[in-house]
Amino acid sequence: MPETPYFSCEDLSLDLGGREVLRNISLELREGEVLGIIGPNGAGKTSLLEILSGRYRPKSGKVYFGGQDINELSLFERARLGIGRTYQTPIVPEELTVGETMKAARQAFRPLLTRFDAEYSAPAAGLINAEIDEIDQILRMLSKEMNVAVLIVEHRIELLVSIADRVIVMDAGEIIARGELAEIIDSPAVRAAYFETQRAG
Ligand SMILES: Nc1ncnc2c1ncn2[C@@H]1O[C@H](COP(=O)(O)OP(=O)(O)O)[C@@H](O)[C@H]1O
Ligand SMILES: [Mg+2]
Repeated sequence: MPETPYFSCEDLSLDLGGREVLRNISLELREGEVLGIIGPNGAGKTSLLEILSGRYRPKSGKVYFGGQDINELSLFERARLGIGRTYQTPIVPEELTVGETMKAARQAFRPLLTRFDAEYSAPAAGLINAEIDEIDQILRMLSKEMNVAVLIVEHRIELLVSIADRVIVMDAGEIIARGELAEIIDSPAVRAAYFETQRAG
């Protein structure tokens, strides 16, 4: 198992609309690891994902994948490396059958995913509709059985407790805490930034 991080970023900063929305964000993720991101609205979680997936370019800082600097790669070039992004609302092509959708996904990769890999992911697709709470089993399967590195933005602490190996807490464009959820959740900075805001809003 490689000890170098599988996916990482260093000192990312981003300006949007003339304002600094991310400042010096660094994180690393290893294969098979689930990293949770929490933080109040406006913390910069979505903007960070947009940079990591390749839709936004950072003002400064770098993104690495498998030891390679991928800062200059577009969204689709990153997708071909195996970096996938999902959204709060899943977007699937309505005109394709489940089988055709999976075939298309399989063929998006070079080298091609094996038929086994593609079919292995099929139970996950069915479970999402059947029961949203099954998401934690899907993520467990992806990370612990398929050795996929997972970064998840999630507000439900119960879900993170059960699946996240580590979490980072963001507030106002910065990482204000990181570590195991149980260790950081009661820190005054996290309480102030996250729970107070959640209650207020
Ligand atoms: N396209 C944009 N132009 C200007 N400001 C933006 C834009 N997108 C997001 N922001 C601002 O950047 C900050 C971070 O937003 P966002 O990344 O969506 O945070 P989160 O996902 O944590 O709620 C917020 O203050 C938001 O208003
Ligand atoms: Mg968001």
